Amino acid sequence: MNKDLLGLKGVSRAAIGAILDRAAHYKKVIVSGKKKLTDCAGKSVFLLFYENSTRTSSSFDHAAKILGANSINLSVKNSSVNKGETLIDTGITLAAMGADIMVIRHQASGTPKLLADNVTSSVINAGDGSNEHPTQALLDMLTMRERFGRLKDLKIAIIGDVKHSRVARSNIWGLKTMGAEVTLCAPETLKPAGIEAFGVRVEDKIEDAARGADVIMALRMQLERQDSGLIPSVAEYSAFYGINKRVISLANKNAIVMHPGPVNRGVEIASEVMTMPECFIAGQVTNGLAVRMALIKILGNKEDIGL
Ligand code: CP
Repeated sequence: MNKDLLGLKGVSRAAIGAILDRAAHYKKVIVSGKKKLTDCAGKSVFLLFYENSTRTSSSFDHAAKILGANSINLSVKNSSVNKGETLIDTGITLAAMGADIMVIRHQASGTPKLLADNVTSSVINAGDGSNEHPTQALLDMLTMRERFGRLKDLKIAIIGDVKHSRVARSNIWGLKTMGAEVTLCAPETLKPAGIEAFGVRVEDKIEDAARGADVIMALRMQLERQDSGLIPSVAEYSAFYGINKRVISLANKNAIVMHPGPVNRGVEIASEVMTMPECFIAGQVTNGLAVRMALIKILGNKEDIGL
Protein backbone atom coordinates (compact mmCIF):
# COMPACT_ATOMS: atom_id res chain seq x y z
CA MET A 1 0.00 0.00 0.00
CA ASN A 2 1.28 3.49 -0.92
CA LYS A 3 0.85 6.09 1.82
CA ASP A 4 1.10 9.02 -0.64
CA LEU A 5 -0.42 10.44 -3.81
CA LEU A 6 2.48 11.99 -5.70
CA GLY A 7 1.17 11.70 -9.25
CA LEU A 8 -1.07 9.67 -11.55
CA LYS A 9 1.73 8.13 -13.60
CA GLY A 10 1.61 4.44 -12.77
CA VAL A 11 -1.57 4.62 -10.68
CA SER A 12 -3.92 1.78 -11.64
CA ARG A 13 -7.34 2.04 -13.23
CA ALA A 14 -8.84 0.40 -10.13
CA ALA A 15 -7.26 2.95 -7.76
CA ILE A 16 -8.36 5.93 -9.87
CA GLY A 17 -11.84 4.42 -10.08
CA ALA A 18 -11.96 3.98 -6.29
CA ILE A 19 -10.97 7.63 -5.71
CA LEU A 20 -13.57 8.86 -8.22
CA ASP A 21 -16.28 6.65 -6.66
CA ARG A 22 -15.51 8.04 -3.20
CA ALA A 23 -15.47 11.58 -4.59
CA ALA A 24 -18.87 10.95 -6.20
CA HIS A 25 -20.14 9.94 -2.75
CA TYR A 26 -18.82 13.19 -1.24
CA LYS A 27 -20.21 15.21 -4.14
CA LYS A 28 -23.67 14.10 -3.03
CA VAL A 29 -22.88 15.26 0.51
CA ILE A 30 -21.72 18.66 -0.80
CA VAL A 31 -24.81 19.07 -2.96
CA SER A 32 -27.02 18.19 0.02
CA GLY A 33 -25.56 21.20 1.82
CA LYS A 34 -24.14 19.19 4.71
CA LYS A 35 -20.89 20.77 5.88
CA LYS A 36 -19.96 18.93 9.06
CA LEU A 37 -19.03 15.24 9.08
CA THR A 38 -16.98 13.14 11.47
CA ASP A 39 -15.30 10.90 8.83
CA CYS A 40 -11.81 12.20 9.70
CA ALA A 41 -12.35 13.43 13.24
CA GLY A 42 -9.07 13.65 15.12
CA LYS A 43 -6.90 13.67 11.98
CA SER A 44 -4.52 16.52 11.19
CA VAL A 45 -3.91 17.89 7.70
CA PHE A 46 -1.02 20.33 7.20
CA LEU A 47 -1.01 22.55 4.09
CA LEU A 48 2.38 23.64 2.76
CA PHE A 49 1.95 25.94 -0.22
CA TYR A 50 5.30 27.28 -1.42
CA GLU A 51 3.58 28.59 -4.56
CA ASN A 52 0.40 30.67 -4.96
CA SER A 53 -2.97 28.95 -5.01
CA THR A 54 -6.63 29.81 -4.61
CA ARG A 55 -8.58 26.70 -5.62
CA THR A 56 -6.30 23.90 -4.43
CA SER A 57 -5.30 25.36 -1.07
CA SER A 58 -8.76 26.56 -0.06
CA SER A 59 -10.50 23.36 -1.19
CA PHE A 60 -8.06 21.14 0.76
CA ASP A 61 -8.61 23.34 3.82
CA HIS A 62 -12.40 23.27 3.37
CA ALA A 63 -12.40 19.52 2.65
CA ALA A 64 -10.45 18.74 5.84
CA LYS A 65 -12.78 20.89 7.94
CA ILE A 66 -15.96 19.35 6.48
CA LEU A 67 -14.58 15.91 7.32
CA GLY A 68 -13.97 16.97 10.93
CA ALA A 69 -10.16 16.99 10.62
CA ASN A 70 -7.87 19.72 11.93
CA SER A 71 -6.49 21.78 9.06
CA ILE A 72 -3.30 23.76 9.63
CA ASN A 73 -2.34 26.16 6.86
CA LEU A 74 1.38 26.82 7.20
CA SER A 75 2.17 30.37 6.17
CA VAL A 76 5.32 29.59 4.22
CA LYS A 77 6.18 33.30 3.93
CA ASN A 78 6.32 33.56 7.73
CA SER A 79 7.77 30.11 8.40
CA SER A 80 11.25 29.09 9.51
CA VAL A 81 11.97 28.15 5.88
CA ASN A 82 12.99 31.80 5.62
CA LYS A 83 15.55 31.23 8.39
CA GLY A 84 17.15 28.48 6.37
CA GLU A 85 15.25 25.40 7.57
CA THR A 86 15.24 22.69 4.94
CA LEU A 87 12.15 21.10 3.48
CA ILE A 88 13.01 17.77 5.09
CA ASP A 89 13.49 19.35 8.53
CA THR A 90 10.21 21.23 8.11
CA GLY A 91 8.50 17.93 7.28
CA ILE A 92 10.05 16.12 10.23
CA THR A 93 8.93 18.98 12.50
CA LEU A 94 5.32 18.78 11.31
CA ALA A 95 5.35 14.97 11.55
CA ALA A 96 6.47 15.34 15.18
CA MET A 97 3.32 17.37 15.79
CA GLY A 98 1.25 14.44 14.56
CA ALA A 99 0.53 15.39 10.94
CA ASP A 100 -1.47 12.58 9.36
CA ILE A 101 -1.36 14.21 5.93
CA MET A 102 0.87 16.89 4.42
CA VAL A 103 -0.39 18.61 1.27
CA ILE A 104 2.42 20.31 -0.62
CA ARG A 105 2.68 22.60 -3.62
CA HIS A 106 6.15 23.62 -4.72
CA GLN A 107 7.73 25.25 -7.75
CA ALA A 108 10.37 22.52 -7.97
CA SER A 109 9.40 19.22 -9.62
CA GLY A 110 10.01 16.25 -7.31
CA THR A 111 9.62 18.14 -4.02
CA PRO A 112 6.57 16.13 -2.84
CA LYS A 113 8.53 12.89 -3.36
CA LEU A 114 11.48 14.24 -1.39
CA LEU A 115 9.13 15.08 1.47
CA ALA A 116 7.28 11.75 1.25
CA ASP A 117 10.55 9.82 1.37
CA ASN A 118 11.46 11.49 4.66
CA VAL A 119 8.25 11.51 6.71
CA THR A 120 5.86 8.80 7.86
CA SER A 121 2.86 11.09 7.24
CA SER A 122 0.95 10.72 3.98
CA VAL A 123 1.94 13.30 1.37
CA ILE A 124 -0.40 14.64 -1.33
CA ASN A 125 1.09 16.50 -4.27
CA ALA A 126 -0.86 19.74 -4.82
CA GLY A 127 1.28 20.62 -7.87
CA ASP A 128 5.05 20.40 -8.33
CA GLY A 129 6.80 22.44 -11.01
CA SER A 130 5.86 21.14 -14.43
CA ASN A 131 5.68 17.54 -13.17
CA GLU A 132 2.21 16.60 -11.87
CA HIS A 133 -0.99 17.98 -10.34
CA PRO A 134 -2.83 14.75 -9.63
CA THR A 135 -5.81 16.14 -7.68
CA GLN A 136 -6.54 18.53 -10.58
CA ALA A 137 -6.63 15.63 -13.05
CA LEU A 138 -8.83 13.59 -10.71
CA LEU A 139 -11.34 16.43 -10.41
CA ASP A 140 -11.22 16.83 -14.19
CA MET A 141 -11.93 13.12 -14.63
CA LEU A 142 -14.78 13.27 -12.13
CA THR A 143 -16.27 16.16 -14.12
CA MET A 144 -16.01 14.22 -17.39
CA ARG A 145 -17.40 11.03 -15.85
CA GLU A 146 -20.38 12.92 -14.43
CA ARG A 147 -21.12 14.48 -17.82
CA PHE A 148 -20.65 11.42 -20.04
CA GLY A 149 -21.10 8.51 -17.63
CA ARG A 150 -17.71 7.06 -18.60
CA LEU A 151 -14.09 7.92 -19.38
CA LYS A 152 -13.32 5.06 -21.74
CA ASP A 153 -13.12 6.17 -25.40
CA LEU A 154 -13.89 9.81 -24.55
CA LYS A 155 -12.04 12.19 -26.85
CA ILE A 156 -10.18 14.88 -24.92
CA ALA A 157 -8.41 17.77 -26.67
CA ILE A 158 -5.87 19.49 -24.40
CA ILE A 159 -4.93 22.90 -25.82
CA GLY A 160 -2.14 25.28 -24.87
CA ASP A 161 1.08 25.42 -22.91
CA VAL A 162 1.73 21.67 -22.62
CA LYS A 163 5.44 22.29 -22.09
CA HIS A 164 5.05 23.87 -18.65
CA SER A 165 1.80 22.19 -17.62
CA ARG A 166 1.63 19.75 -14.72
CA VAL A 167 -2.15 19.66 -15.27
CA ALA A 168 -1.60 18.32 -18.79
CA ARG A 169 0.82 15.64 -17.59
CA SER A 170 -1.44 14.33 -14.81
CA ASN A 171 -4.42 14.33 -17.17
CA ILE A 172 -2.47 12.49 -19.86
CA TRP A 173 -1.39 9.74 -17.43
CA GLY A 174 -4.78 9.43 -15.77
CA LEU A 175 -6.92 9.62 -18.89
CA LYS A 176 -4.77 7.13 -20.79
CA THR A 177 -5.06 4.68 -17.89
CA MET A 178 -8.84 5.09 -17.95
CA GLY A 179 -8.99 4.38 -21.69
CA ALA A 180 -9.71 7.90 -22.98
CA GLU A 181 -8.24 9.23 -26.24
CA VAL A 182 -6.09 12.32 -25.63
CA THR A 183 -5.04 14.85 -28.27
CA LEU A 184 -2.53 17.60 -27.51
CA CYS A 185 -2.38 20.89 -29.39
CA ALA A 186 0.20 23.61 -28.76
CA PRO A 187 2.41 26.09 -30.57
CA GLU A 188 5.73 24.49 -31.48
CA THR A 189 7.56 26.44 -28.76
CA LEU A 190 5.12 25.25 -26.07
CA LYS A 191 5.42 21.56 -26.90
CA PRO A 192 7.74 19.68 -24.55
CA ALA A 193 10.79 18.02 -26.06
CA GLY A 194 9.95 14.41 -26.84
CA ILE A 195 6.19 15.02 -26.87
CA GLU A 196 5.74 11.73 -28.76
CA ALA A 197 6.82 9.87 -25.59
CA PHE A 198 3.41 10.70 -24.07
CA GLY A 199 1.91 8.23 -26.56
CA VAL A 200 -0.99 10.49 -27.53
CA ARG A 201 -2.11 12.24 -30.72
CA VAL A 202 -0.59 15.65 -31.41
CA GLU A 203 -2.17 18.29 -33.66
CA ASP A 204 -0.77 21.66 -34.71
CA LYS A 205 -4.09 23.35 -35.48
CA ILE A 206 -6.77 23.90 -32.86
CA GLU A 207 -9.47 23.09 -35.43
CA ASP A 208 -8.01 19.61 -35.98
CA ALA A 209 -7.81 18.97 -32.23
CA ALA A 210 -11.32 20.25 -31.49
CA ARG A 211 -13.06 18.43 -34.35
CA GLY A 212 -14.99 15.49 -32.87
CA ALA A 213 -13.81 16.13 -29.29
CA ASP A 214 -16.04 15.47 -26.28
CA VAL A 215 -13.94 17.70 -24.05
CA ILE A 216 -11.92 20.77 -24.96
CA MET A 217 -9.55 21.47 -22.11
CA ALA A 218 -7.70 24.77 -22.23
CA LEU A 219 -4.49 25.09 -20.24
CA ARG A 220 -3.55 28.27 -18.43
CA MET A 221 -1.23 30.46 -20.45
CA GLN A 222 1.65 30.94 -18.04
CA LEU A 223 2.09 34.63 -18.77
CA GLU A 224 4.83 34.88 -16.15
CA ARG A 225 6.97 32.68 -18.41
CA GLN A 226 6.42 34.61 -21.63
CA ASP A 227 9.30 37.04 -21.11
CA SER A 228 11.44 34.33 -22.58
CA GLY A 229 9.78 34.90 -25.95
CA LEU A 230 8.09 31.52 -26.36
CA ILE A 231 5.18 33.15 -28.18
CA PRO A 232 5.27 36.21 -30.44
CA SER A 233 2.44 37.90 -28.53
CA VAL A 234 -0.50 37.03 -26.29
CA ALA A 235 -2.87 38.38 -28.98
CA GLU A 236 -1.44 35.98 -31.57
CA TYR A 237 -1.62 33.07 -29.13
CA SER A 238 -5.28 33.85 -28.52
CA ALA A 239 -6.02 34.13 -32.26
CA PHE A 240 -4.54 30.69 -33.02
CA TYR A 241 -5.12 28.72 -29.79
CA GLY A 242 -7.96 30.50 -27.94
CA ILE A 243 -11.25 28.66 -27.34
CA ASN A 244 -14.17 30.53 -28.90
CA LYS A 245 -17.64 29.69 -30.22
CA ARG A 246 -16.26 28.72 -33.62
CA VAL A 247 -13.85 26.20 -32.09
CA ILE A 248 -16.60 24.74 -29.88
CA SER A 249 -18.86 24.33 -32.94
CA LEU A 250 -16.35 21.81 -34.35
CA ALA A 251 -16.58 19.55 -31.29
CA ASN A 252 -19.11 16.78 -30.69
CA LYS A 253 -22.70 17.48 -29.64
CA ASN A 254 -22.75 17.71 -25.81
CA ALA A 255 -19.05 18.64 -25.73
CA ILE A 256 -17.83 20.65 -22.76
CA VAL A 257 -15.10 23.22 -22.19
CA MET A 258 -12.83 22.87 -19.18
CA HIS A 259 -9.99 24.89 -17.68
CA PRO A 260 -8.07 24.25 -14.44
CA GLY A 261 -8.04 27.94 -13.54
CA PRO A 262 -7.03 30.60 -12.97
CA VAL A 263 -8.29 31.72 -16.39
CA ASN A 264 -6.73 34.57 -18.35
CA ARG A 265 -9.99 35.77 -19.87
CA GLY A 266 -9.69 36.57 -23.54
CA VAL A 267 -6.42 34.63 -23.83
CA GLU A 268 -7.07 30.88 -23.45
CA ILE A 269 -10.85 31.29 -23.50
CA ALA A 270 -12.96 34.06 -25.02
CA SER A 271 -15.03 35.88 -22.40
CA GLU A 272 -18.24 34.94 -24.26
CA VAL A 273 -17.45 31.24 -23.68
CA MET A 274 -17.19 31.67 -19.89
CA THR A 275 -20.95 32.06 -19.55
CA MET A 276 -21.97 29.39 -22.09
CA PRO A 277 -23.66 26.24 -20.75
CA GLU A 278 -20.83 24.22 -22.30
CA CYS A 279 -18.34 25.87 -19.92
CA PHE A 280 -17.86 23.61 -16.88
CA ILE A 281 -15.22 25.55 -14.96
CA ALA A 282 -17.37 26.22 -11.87
CA GLY A 283 -18.37 22.55 -11.78
CA GLN A 284 -14.70 21.57 -11.82
CA VAL A 285 -14.12 23.67 -8.70
CA THR A 286 -16.96 21.95 -6.81
CA ASN A 287 -15.60 18.58 -7.87
CA GLY A 288 -12.19 19.63 -6.54
CA LEU A 289 -13.70 19.80 -3.08
CA ALA A 290 -15.21 16.31 -3.48
CA VAL A 291 -11.94 14.78 -4.76
CA ARG A 292 -9.89 16.31 -1.94
CA MET A 293 -12.40 15.07 0.65
CA ALA A 294 -12.07 11.58 -0.85
CA LEU A 295 -8.27 11.64 -0.68
CA ILE A 296 -8.13 12.98 2.87
CA LYS A 297 -10.54 10.23 3.94
CA ILE A 298 -8.69 7.44 2.07
CA LEU A 299 -5.13 8.42 3.04
CA GLY A 300 -6.02 9.78 6.49
CA ASN A 301 -7.59 6.44 7.40
CA LYS A 302 -4.90 4.40 5.60
CA GLU A 303 -7.44 2.64 3.40
CA ASP A 304 -5.84 0.27 0.92
CA ILE A 305 -7.33 1.07 -2.50
CA GLY A 306 -4.31 -0.28 -4.36
CA LEU A 307 -2.49 3.02 -4.74
N1 CP B 1 -6.06 24.79 -10.75
C1 CP B 1 -5.29 25.19 -9.72
O1 CP B 1 -4.38 24.50 -9.27
O2 CP B 1 -5.66 26.41 -9.21
P1 CP B 1 -4.90 27.15 -8.03
O3 CP B 1 -3.54 27.52 -8.53
O4 CP B 1 -5.76 28.36 -7.72
O5 CP B 1 -4.81 26.21 -6.88
